[in-house]
Amino acid sequence: MLTSEQKARYRQDGLIVLPGFKSPAHIAALRAQAQQIVEAFDPATSKTIFTTNEQVRAVDRYFLDSATRSSCFFEEEAFDAEGQLRQAKELSINKIGHAMHDLDPVFSAFSRGPELHALAQDAGLVEPQIWQSMYIFKQPGIGGEVGWHQDATFFDSSPISVTTFWFALEDATLENGCLWAELGGHRSPLRERFVRHGDTVTMEKLDATPWPNAHSAVPLEVEAGTLVMFHGLLPHYSAPNRSPRSRHAYTLHVTDGQTAYAPTNWLQRGTDFPVRGFV
Ligand code: FE2
Repeated sequence: MLTSEQKARYRQDGLIVLPGFKSPAHIAALRAQAQQIVEAFDPATSKTIFTTNEQVRAVDRYFLDSATRSSCFFEEEAFDAEGQLRQAKELSINKIGHAMHDLDPVFSAFSRGPELHALAQDAGLVEPQIWQSMYIFKQPGIGGEVGWHQDATFFDSSPISVTTFWFALEDATLENGCLWAELGGHRSPLRERFVRHGDTVTMEKLDATPWPNAHSAVPLEVEAGTLVMFHGLLPHYSAPNRSPRSRHAYTLHVTDGQTAYAPTNWLQRGTDFPVRGFV
């Protein structure tokens, strides 16, 4: 799939940008399916989630259960002081996660195929395993910031193999909160690890290397249909969306089955719902 030049670029930068990877028809199908999931979602179930301490624990349960579901999460700024939605439900959801690629036929079709498998192999994944899917809305006006992080924080393996497939479903610009990344930053150490023990999750500090900033990082302004594939150690960020335009994106987090997936990762699969690859 990738040329030898592109492979060299990926090794150098820790990311590769592939415009036109998905067609408008594929994007339209995924967007329509996401809309259906949101329409079927009852906000009463999770409107309570962001309000009191008791309900903060419910967030954790809801979050943990989402490992094997298609769960909707609200934008932090979705609610007013009285806990009421400030805008329509479909303009309030931050993301859907985290198992649509295995539960939903439209999401599964979008998430799989020989091209993606070949690309994963080019990135060094001998036996790709898709652990997680996220449909990210980055809603107009209230789309939340995603602070600097490395995806290997959430998908640890020995050795580290997690690779992110980030699909732009709409044009991503500086105005609507495009990704930022530090080219070559995948050669920096893993700074944090998100560790699960039972139903408790904690963030462990591993390394004090500072995060990039607007001077050391580059914005990834890309058109709808673009695939950005990046290394699990690559630091990346996205700003809040204060613009009137949404910035939908879809992501897959994929490890190599030949590396040891950490038993302390928050997202685990049982034998009744095994992790699968691209083909
Ligand atoms: Fe990320």
